[in-house]
Amino acid sequence: MAVVTITPEELSRPVADAQAREWCAQLEAGDILLFPETPVPIPPFDLAFLLGQQQSDSSLHKNIAYKPNIDKLSGVDTKTADAEAVKRLQSIMRAYSQHVVEFLTGFLSPYRAKWRLDYASFRPQEEQGRDLPHRRRNDLLHTDAFPTRPTYGARILRFFNNIHPTRTRDWIVSDPFATVVKQFAPSEIAPAPDTTMSRAAKGLGRAVGLSAAIPAIKRSPYDEFMMRFHNLLKENARFQAECPKYSWKFPSGSSWMVYTDTVPHAVLAGQYALEQTLLVEPDALVAPETSPLKVLERIAGTALV
Ligand code: SIN
Ligand code: FE
Repeated sequence: MAVVTITPEELSRPVADAQAREWCAQLEAGDILLFPETPVPIPPFDLAFLLGQQQSDSSLHKNIAYKPNIDKLSGVDTKTADAEAVKRLQSIMRAYSQHVVEFLTGFLSPYRAKWRLDYASFRPQEEQGRDLPHRRRNDLLHTDAFPTRPTYGARILRFFNNIHPTRTRDWIVSDPFATVVKQFAPSEIAPAPDTTMSRAAKGLGRAVGLSAAIPAIKRSPYDEFMMRFHNLLKENARFQAECPKYSWKFPSGSSWMVYTDTVPHAVLAGQYALEQTLLVEPDALVAPETSPLKVLERIAGTALV
């Protein structure tokens, strides 16, 4: 588990294919790539707008997702938000998303055209002491899985910017998936067929007479597993207390990139971040054997997607 620092000097040279493959391999193994000076800077005028959101009363201070494929913001209460501000935020997020993609297209060439662009987010809340339901807490170590967006084996790669003008964003991380998963018995981690979340959601829908209104989310066994593992890690007090922890403080103005389905992570403090998620297809990986999908399939002895 390491942080690999990429300097502006390295970024100013053309990237050789072998180097790009090595960066992909490091990410896939659970390293974090850190850019002390972000390669995706936010224009000062836009930055001032983003940093102004927490002070305002508008609902733009909540965690906000931007869906690049349909050019939509979600998490904004349009009843209270000022329409001009919403438009402004949407255009800032659109530009951010495009710039991250442009940068990664050159930087991680082995993955080019083999990812699905997922959501971007704006995270203006102070992370220290946030009052969230247990499973949504980000200050507990976890691997990522999205309840409503199964990946079918694609991996969750996230690119972050700490846009706070002075403060670091403070994370702890632990050993990668392949190491952590071995600490649990297969029976502890296997999704129980009768209690899968899609069934639970359907049952809940039926109970309140909404069965037609809640479309069943089709997850693969892999997705069921990853969702369950996310919850299991957050709820396992022994894992939280005893696992090896490495702490990293990402500087103001930096970016970093990590497979968050592979590296258990938690954010302990910090405010104002931007993030773009990419789902990297299994056939793009340079070391597919280390992917959570392959690790799990070896444990299960069967295909999981
Ligand atoms: C997370 O993905 O758990 C949160 C990371 C962050 O906001 O820094
Ligand atoms: Fe996470």
